[in-house]
Parts: sequence; structure tokens; C-alpha cells
Amino acid sequence: MAKRPQILIIEDQLGPRKSLEMILSPYFDVLTVDSGEKGLAQLKERPVDVVTLDLRLPNLQGIDVLRQIKQMHGDIEVIVITGYGEFKTVLDALHLGASSYLLKPFNMGDVLTAVNRAAGKKRQMDQLKEFLIQIGGLIGAEKELSQGIKLLEQDRSLLEGVKKMFEKTEQEIEEERRVNHFDFIRALIDTVEKRDPYAYGHSSRVNYYSYLIAQRLGLTDSEKEELQIGAYMHDIGKLGIDPQVVQKKGEYTSEEMEAIKRHPEIGVNLVAPLNLSPNVLALIRHHHEYYIGKGYPDGIGGEDIPLLARIVAVADAFDAMVSDYPYEYRKVLSLEEATAELNHCSGIQFDPKVVKALIETIEEEHDRILLKSALFADL
Ligand SMILES: [Fe+2]
Repeated sequence: MAKRPQILIIEDQLGPRKSLEMILSPYFDVLTVDSGEKGLAQLKERPVDVVTLDLRLPNLQGIDVLRQIKQMHGDIEVIVITGYGEFKTVLDALHLGASSYLLKPFNMGDVLTAVNRAAGKKRQMDQLKEFLIQIGGLIGAEKELSQGIKLLEQDRSLLEGVKKMFEKTEQEIEEERRVNHFDFIRALIDTVEKRDPYAYGHSSRVNYYSYLIAQRLGLTDSEKEELQIGAYMHDIGKLGIDPQVVQKKGEYTSEEMEAIKRHPEIGVNLVAPLNLSPNVLALIRHHHEYYIGKGYPDGIGGEDIPLLARIVAVADAFDAMVSDYPYEYRKVLSLEEATAELNHCSGIQFDPKVVKALIETIEEEHDRILLKSALFADL
């Protein structure tokens, strides 16, 4: 039988701590501590797979504990637990690499789903690391990794290897609990983003903003699920591009720009063995089309651009504007400047109703000051 995932619960209040322990211990090996300091000491001694972290702790604050966990063991999945409506805290935690969040009071189903997913992601990440090492890429050695990915693109048998790994994983889902494509994809994206410190967390945030837009536009559950997968994967094609170009700060030469522009098509080719839905593939291919036409790779416009791609285009650009991320926008914009820029590009680069949905959601549902400080906090 496979080893049970190890979970550490960091929670100062006895009631929630015991509830979490009771919910999780039938399925996982559970440790509990009542302070951030003890949690960190525990992790120093023995890393675990998943941490559930209360953000309101006495003494050392939860967000600082999260920061230190990620510094110590970047691969540990951390689920943060927060009070309702603490939007700033959720964004802070996402910026710092938290994998998801739970709102108090939590219910059993949500806790199990979140922890299952995080444990699955951790396992997939471990498998992926092994796999990349196997194909000759060494995690952390950019050149080798990029060469490994090139090999993946060119060599069908290696691609088949990825596919088999995927199938094996799907069988394991049945045997154990639910680990789906999405977990694999997130693990893969994390690997991509860890090559590029400026991009770290970008896909999670694009996913989050896309979700806000989807809620506003009333998308169906299946559309939202496809959007979530696609939002995570939209830039996967950057794996096939020279990391020095991807990470470059400042102006691209025209040659570099041409290389960058290939990433949607490379992305679609790269994920070909994964049997993703046509809507996800269309999102990856078309997330840089312009509403007016003239985008890339196909220059299609208006409603011809799939809706999910139009949503990710806005979420992607918004995150690029407000984050210190070099691609396309070199200067970090304030929230007001970003909103103005989105409005300026509405109907040209972006679908007006998608822009409207994002701006209205941000303005109506969250305190602007909190959001602003969350986006621009010195993390
Ligand atoms: Fe992109």
C-alpha cells in the first residue's frame, strides 16, 4: 500500500484543531501543533506533504509562517485557513505560494477535497521531478531542463512516456482518492514558473482573476472547470522557448518577439498527448488574439475568439500590469492605472464585456484599498 501523505495542522484554537484532526486522520498521517513557532520547528525536523495553516495565530502571524515554510521547503503544499471575506489575506497567501484556502467555519467535504488535492499535487510534483531527472533534465539546471523539454517536443516516444505517466496516475486515482489532470497540470506549471522568479504565482493569479470573471458572466460549472485548467496552462508553451528570452526584462528584439509569439502554438503541441478538451486547447492557442483581430497566432477577432480565451486574455494582462512581471508591461501599474489601461484597450485588445466583468467585480465586491495593498504589498 502506498505511503499515506503526511499532514501538519497549525491551529491555535483547540476546537478547529481537533475537528481538522478528526476529519483528516482516517486518510492521512496527521500531526498537530498550536503555534507557528512549533509548526516551523516541526517542519525543520521532518518535512510533511501538506500543511493546513490558520492565518490568525498568536505571536508569529500565519502569513509569516507561510513565508518561512515556503523558504524552507518550497515544495510543501500549504492550505491557508481564513475568516470569510478576507480577500487581501487570500491574495497575499497566493502571492506567497499557498495552494488553496479554506474559509472558517469549514465543512468536512471542503476540507477533504482541499487536502486531497494538495496531497495529490505534492505527489505529482515528486513524480514530475523524478521524471524530469529521468529524461536528462535536472531540476534547477535551466539549460538541461530546456533541452529536456525540447527533446519532449521532438521525440514521440518521450511524449508517449508522459502519456503513460498520466495514465498510470489516472489508475491510481481510482485506487486511492481523487487526483486529477488538474493536479498534474498545476505541478507542471509550478515547475515552469519556478524557473522564472518574476512569473512565480502568475498562473494561480490568472486562474483566480479568470474565476472572478467567470462568476460574473455566469459561466456553467463545466466551462469554469475548463477555464481553470486552461488558465493554469495558458503559458505552458514558454517551456519550449529559450529561458533567457522568457525571463528577459526590457525590450525584446524583433527576433525575440517572434520567438515569444510561438508559445501558444508550442503549448498546444506540448499538451497534445494529454487529451484535454477542445475548449482548453482553444484557450491555450488563442489567449493572445485581439478583439479587433491582429493578435496572434491566427489574427481572429470578436466572437470568433473562444470566450475562455477572451477571459484569460484580460486576466493575464491585468496580472501582468499589477505584478512585477516583465512580459509585455515593464512598469507596475497602480490599480487605477490598470483599470484605466483595461478600459483603454476594451474593444481593441479585449472583449468589452469581459473587461467590464473584471472591473465591476473588483470594485463592487472588495474594498479597493485592501485590494490595492494586497496587490502591491512588499512580499
Ligand atoms: Fe501567453
